[in-house]
Amino acid sequence: MTAWAIVVAAGRGERFGRPKQYEEINGRRVLDWSVADARAACDGVVVVVPSDRVEPGTIAGGSSRSESVRCGLAAVPAEADVIVVHDAARPAAGVALFRAVIDAVRAGADGAIAAVPVTDTVKRVAGDVVVSTLDRTELVAVQTPQAFRASSLRAAHAGGGEATDDAALVEQAGGRVVVVPGHAANRKLTEPGDLAVLESVLR
Ligand code: CTP
Ligand code: MG
Repeated sequence: MTAWAIVVAAGRGERFGRPKQYEEINGRRVLDWSVADARAACDGVVVVVPSDRVEPGTIAGGSSRSESVRCGLAAVPAEADVIVVHDAARPAAGVALFRAVIDAVRAGADGAIAAVPVTDTVKRVAGDVVVSTLDRTELVAVQTPQAFRASSLRAAHAGGGEATDDAALVEQAGGRVVVVPGHAANRKLTEPGDLAVLESVLR
């Protein structure tokens, strides 16, 4: 089986203040940390970047994360039977986590996502009024990498849907998505304060 990765790095980094995928952490760009893990675990990697920052070996993304994934899908060869999608903004995922989600798809799932238990209590609210308290034991916080049977991911994206992760589209299409243990260090660089944490994790 052939596994390819799509590393999505075409975001604007609005919460961070600038395109965070180009920040350096311990001498290496966030994007390059992410691509290195993907390359080590996969047969090929497609790197999707902002259209005004295309460099050799990268392609232009779109105006939403889902659009950027679709730009990546168009560049993944048909021979790939497993496709892993990873946020460039998670530079500390590690090769082992890539391998774990790929293996879960090879074992028969349509999709496999990295996730960790929710440690905060989570409530549903309407404005500032609490509606209900969710059962935390039934919840996980979802990360990338996320691996999929290529045909499942392509079909899920064929309708041009929008979601905050790819598994949501595969779930909506009726796919069976399984959870693989992620880890706390696999933090997404979202705000400037996340830099210091990732610096120590990647040391
Ligand atoms: N992404 C992308 N194309 C987009 C939007 C996001 O490839 N149009 C990528 C980001 O580069 C990032 C990942 O998707 O690696 C997760 O998105 P997020 O953390 O939200 O990054 P940004 O969209 O850049 O940040 P913000 O939402 O704060 O603007
Ligand atoms: Mg975003």
